[in-house]
Amino acid sequence: MTKVLILGANGQLARNTTQVFLETTDDYLTLYLRRASRLRNPDPSRVKIVEGDVFDAVALRGVMRGQDAVYANLAGDMARQARAIIDAMHAEGLKRLIFISSMGIYGEVPDETYRSVLDPYRDSAAEIEKSDLDYTILRPGWFTRDKAGVCRITQKGEPFKGQEVLLDSLSDLIARLATTPGLHLRRSIGVSTA
Ligand SMILES: NC(=O)c1ccc[n+]([C@@H]2O[C@H](COP(=O)([O-])OP(=O)(O)OC[C@H]3O[C@@H](n4cnc5c(N)ncnc54)[C@H](OP(=O)(O)O)[C@@H]3O)[C@@H](O)[C@H]2O)c1
Repeated sequence: MTKVLILGANGQLARNTTQVFLETTDDYLTLYLRRASRLRNPDPSRVKIVEGDVFDAVALRGVMRGQDAVYANLAGDMARQARAIIDAMHAEGLKRLIFISSMGIYGEVPDETYRSVLDPYRDSAAEIEKSDLDYTILRPGWFTRDKAGVCRITQKGEPFKGQEVLLDSLSDLIARLATTPGLHLRRSIGVSTA
């Protein structure tokens, strides 16, 4: 049983992934979010909900204590968020980080230049890549709920393939990353549905 901390737990992808964790693993989840009253606890025997902001260093350290893996599902000032997470993980002796970014941060999507809209994703990935953490950065395509197919992964340095990713297959990958030692360790991977 892995103890997984989900940061930004009210995000669209985080809510979907929480459900997938509960259905496909026996992991214990801590859901960390601002304004926790928005979230109903889906399984009090395995899920704890903690209200907090990633920029609250004391609260973040507290919620990290004893966790095995951190899954960051954030938006906004992501470089500062990444630094806060790295600092708190160092302080609590945690290593495993799964961090949601976006396709396009390395200019790897053929015929697309996303430029400054992706700066927070680019800058946060750079912070994580220079850390000593056991990270996996996920660069998903556009989320969709209605596309059948298999999960397709591209490595950093390869062109991104496709445009969309099935939300459930992305959530399934996140759950496997949290529970499978060594899977895509210290990698930044593009994720789409073929
Ligand atoms: N939608 C797509 O097709 C797509 C494609 C590729 C990548 N992405 C990216 O993938 C990531 C996850 O997607 P999503 O749809 O789950 O995003 P989302 O719904 O926007 O969720 C992001 C979460 O981050 C939380 N957050 C922001 N700052 C925070 C802070 N300081 N402390 C704690 N929580 C904070 C927000 O909390 P509040 O609710 O309190 O504001 C929000 O719930 C996003 O960065 C998104 O841009 C999305």
